[in-house]
Amino acid sequence: MSSAFNIVVLISGTGSNLASIIDKQQQYNYKVSLVVSNQKSAKGLDFAKQNNIPIFTFNWDKSDRLLLDVQNIIRQHNCQLIVLAGFMKILPSPFIDEFKQKIINIHPSLLPKYPGLNTHQRVIDNKDQTHGASVHYVNAQLDAGEIISQTSINVDLNSNAESLGKQLLFREHSLLPYTIHLIGQNRVEWRDDKLYFDHKILTTPIIIYD
Ligand code: GAR
Repeated sequence: MSSAFNIVVLISGTGSNLASIIDKQQQYNYKVSLVVSNQKSAKGLDFAKQNNIPIFTFNWDKSDRLLLDVQNIIRQHNCQLIVLAGFMKILPSPFIDEFKQKIINIHPSLLPKYPGLNTHQRVIDNKDQTHGASVHYVNAQLDAGEIISQTSINVDLNSNAESLGKQLLFREHSLLPYTIHLIGQNRVEWRDDKLYFDHKILTTPIIIYD
């Protein structure tokens, strides 16, 4: 088996997506070599500690000065992919530029619908019949980079924002690890600023059903 694909995961809170990423490391042949959080008390850091994964925490600082430390430590760990898994800050351009086409984010909506916050409530307010989550590359615009993969769920008439969020989170736990696997295996790759999936230009998101 080829050596594992080396990733860093950035979180801000509960970290259930991080837990699913860690659980599927062997199955999908990638390795979480570092977890970074802008919250020292993020509950998700416990999953990293339980698995002896190095942790780096920092205080978010509008001057972006502290992000330089994050950039340094990511460099030191030779990470091949940066995964934003519930990281609730907007990364500034110098950070994105250094890791061009190497940062992905999971967002709880069927992008380009509903970038930003409160996606579940917006789905309910608009009486949408389907909802979903997307994994996309990160660029300088909010939730706007190239979409790689999506999963969708039916919206039950009795759903509220909380129940819908829970139902979707369960699906996110499959979507994100599998997408990391596709990138680690070079099945999803950038060539000349175009995104390919299995050697064909990706024109619509890869749909992941379970
Ligand atoms: C997830 O639903 C993720 O999609 C969302 O935050 C939650 C984190 O849950 N991310 C965003 O809203 C980013 N804009 P987790 O901490 O349990 O993984």
